[in-house]
Amino acid sequence: MERLIITIDGPAGTGKSTAARELASRLGLPFLDTGAMYRAVAWRCLKNGISFDDESQIVKQARQIRFEFSKNRLLIDGNDPGDELRSDEISRAASVVATFPAVREVLVEQQRKLAGEYSLVSEGRDQGTVVFPQANCKFFLTASPDVRAERRWNDLRAGNPAISKEMILREIEQRDERDRNRKAAPLKPAEDAIIIDNSNKTREEVVSLMVENVRKTMQLPG
Ligand code: DC
Repeated sequence: MERLIITIDGPAGTGKSTAARELASRLGLPFLDTGAMYRAVAWRCLKNGISFDDESQIVKQARQIRFEFSKNRLLIDGNDPGDELRSDEISRAASVVATFPAVREVLVEQQRKLAGEYSLVSEGRDQGTVVFPQANCKFFLTASPDVRAERRWNDLRAGNPAISKEMILREIEQRDERDRNRKAAPLKPAEDAIIIDNSNKTREEVVSLMVENVRKTMQLPG
């Protein structure tokens, strides 16, 4: 049976993960958080003292990670990745490991393998362009850097009162720059992606827009 693939790409802090998780749950599909896969590689390299210049060692770490779905959730080495993969240190390191083509190759192979077994909603930077160019429905989420920094600041400031919105904005702009300008699978919308700017939209509005488009594309009943 042909699998259904829905992709959601876009820069950090656009609410992609939340929208993807919600869309997947509404459609009863697994949610593939590909950012968590890059984060898992970064976490493992930090834990094992691997230098972030050493591509072949990073690839070796990536190959040792087991990815699978259980009850529509991605498990990494048998565990549901919690917030421990979302620290600033791991965010920075993940954006570095994601620049290595050989690391991407290992993870893309795993992503395609999962999509061969399950219909899914896949979220990342290159899902509609490189990994699943044949996807049934593609979305690209954007929001202004200011709005993204504001959202992230609201999430972080209670736990870290010293952090400023300007610091977060700088960090976001650096990550965007690295993700957009890397040679391997740079961040950009697929030609056939539906672009949603959510600077002024609620989460509910974004998800409803997505559901509506999926139904239209798949000619599903409303
Ligand atoms: O979406 P995220 O912030 O969890 O992603 C972590 C890093 O991994 C981010 O710098 C971009 C990178 N990434 C990527 O290059 N390709 C993907 N498909 C997903 C994430």
